[in-house]
Amino acid sequence: MQIKYLGHSAFEFISQSGNILVDPFLAANPSYTPKNIINIFVTHGHGDHLGSAIEIAKSQNSLITAIFELAGYCQSKGAPANGISFGSKIKFPWGWALFTPAFHSSSTPDGQYAGMPASILFEIDGVRIYHAGDTCLNSEMDIVREYYSPQIALLPIGGHFTMDEEQAAIAAKKLGVKTVIPMHYNTFDAIAANPEYFKSLISKSGQSAEIMEINQVLPF
Ligand code: NI
Ligand code: MN
Repeated sequence: MQIKYLGHSAFEFISQSGNILVDPFLAANPSYTPKNIINIFVTHGHGDHLGSAIEIAKSQNSLITAIFELAGYCQSKGAPANGISFGSKIKFPWGWALFTPAFHSSSTPDGQYAGMPASILFEIDGVRIYHAGDTCLNSEMDIVREYYSPQIALLPIGGHFTMDEEQAAIAAKKLGVKTVIPMHYNTFDAIAANPEYFKSLISKSGQSAEIMEINQVLPF
């Protein structure tokens, strides 16, 4: 599978069965055109994560999977959505997704309650990827490592609303991943961060950071 960075916390996972979007906030990426999107995942309701999920789900006829209340909101706006919660692996043709608690908040852009915020662990074509969403450092990450051993983590480093570079480096260690892709930084002033500093911190524990450019694609 391949990972394409779309800016902020937005990623496209390119699998053998089709393309999977996560947190498709595309304000920083006006050139992006969704194609062959079979599934969309949204970690929580904030506008910089829900992004264009509803519009893309409708135009691509693709299913949004999100926490129950947020999925209900997407359905109320006419998008196909699958309401789930923390617990079990949700199966798909390309593998599975498992939602775990994130420590943050979650409301929709128009102020409705959107349930709990999530981090999402994916297995796609056999590769395990942890998308932290927006969260602080938390001990759910220990469970993720102990039972699921992800290879790749997508971690926020921008601080203010989430972990900063130093906490994300601790998270990388807790998760035991080989590779971290930093996200959720420098999109706006409050989340200014230095990905090279993050990279230097995690290299001390033998882990690598891939600092991705918008629209860059990496194979895994
Ligand atoms: Ni948020
Ligand atoms: Mn955010």
